[in-house]
Amino acid sequence: MAFTTALKTTVSALALSAFATTAMAEDVEVLHWWTSGSEAEALGVLKDDLGSKGVGWNDMPVAGGSGVEAMTVLRARVVGGDAPTAAQMLGFDIKDWAESTGQLANLDAVAAEEGWDDVVPAPLQDFSKFDGHWIAAPVNVHSTNWVWINKKALDQAGGKVPESWDELVVVLDKMKENGITPIAHGGQPWQDGTVFEAVVLGMGTDFYNSAIIELDPEALGGPQMVEVFDRMSKLRSYVDDNFSGRDWNLASTMVINGDAGMQFMGDWAKGEFLKAEQVPGEDFVCARFPGTQGEVLFNSDQFVMFDQGDASDAQMLMASAVMDPKFQSAFNIVKGSVPARTDVSGDGFDACGQKGIGDFAEANEAGSLFGSLAHGHAQPTAIKNAFFDVITAQFNGDYDSQTAAEELVNAVEAAK
Ligand code: BGC
Repeated sequence: MAFTTALKTTVSALALSAFATTAMAEDVEVLHWWTSGSEAEALGVLKDDLGSKGVGWNDMPVAGGSGVEAMTVLRARVVGGDAPTAAQMLGFDIKDWAESTGQLANLDAVAAEEGWDDVVPAPLQDFSKFDGHWIAAPVNVHSTNWVWINKKALDQAGGKVPESWDELVVVLDKMKENGITPIAHGGQPWQDGTVFEAVVLGMGTDFYNSAIIELDPEALGGPQMVEVFDRMSKLRSYVDDNFSGRDWNLASTMVINGDAGMQFMGDWAKGEFLKAEQVPGEDFVCARFPGTQGEVLFNSDQFVMFDQGDASDAQMLMASAVMDPKFQSAFNIVKGSVPARTDVSGDGFDACGQKGIGDFAEANEAGSLFGSLAHGHAQPTAIKNAFFDVITAQFNGDYDSQTAAEELVNAVEAAK
């Protein structure tokens, strides 16, 4: 069935003015994976905002970084005929839900009333719209090719932020000598994938484009990919023995405490540093993964609404609240991300947030902005998982670099 015909225009009965401030005695049930300290605090900003508009909050948290478990729970609920009012979702999953189920509510009326077309950056709109219709409200833009460094550990390792692969290795060696774990890492496929994509980007934007976006078998199985896997093995040698299964926020805590030197992670990690009252430039340093300055791998958390006639008033109020410029500022300052609108001022954001806002705009102009593979913005889930299988196996020593590159070609081909 075509998506357009499957869409029920849940908003048609609503007077447009209802999006503004009318108090409605309705609840929204929201499925999400924001369970770390800073994530929960950011979510609190949304809950309070909705509360002030008369919309109650029914929490449906599903722990698990990058939403891996949340997507499994969501599917089970929808299949069981019990869809939540709204769900947090990433990139290709949004397209997939729209295409395969046609159960997502149409947000066109609220989007038109509030002019979303003019303020949401085009790379985000690619995921917020399906068949020309708005089906998701983007709450933020995250970016994954960051490194978060303990400032004291960096000073003790020479004080220079590494800008190239070779400089990175020098700093990591020094940190090891100084008796700390150089890299805080959590061994979960999506975290291995987050490091991998930064390493791929570090080999050049053309290479990221051919290997990750175009899935060119020559790039996937060629000498540069072998080099990527060599670098992954090198990074593995700086990780502590207990990394397996560790949650990303516990890895952040290791850097915050000075037990570890640095973490390669998306800017949701910054939320944890801020929550621990750390100050950028004083207690920690944010920088682009070495060799990826001026380049950005992005992902955006968006809320989709499941088509439920009787909940539509609250759903549209929630969509409107998510897109409110003041809310986008307040929320993203806490979350570590940057606003999903081009018209929100960077005032109030810390130095890393301002860098994030600037980097995104510049990379978008310069053609060095790409979707994150590990966070659902480069390929559909089946292909992403095929990458993860090989990346994690190689990181854990099951494949040498040459074999891993060959396996990658096969796994991606099979998943297409
Ligand atoms: C989401 C972030 C979240 C992170 C860790 C990412 O995929 O975009 O909002 O904080 O996963 O769970």
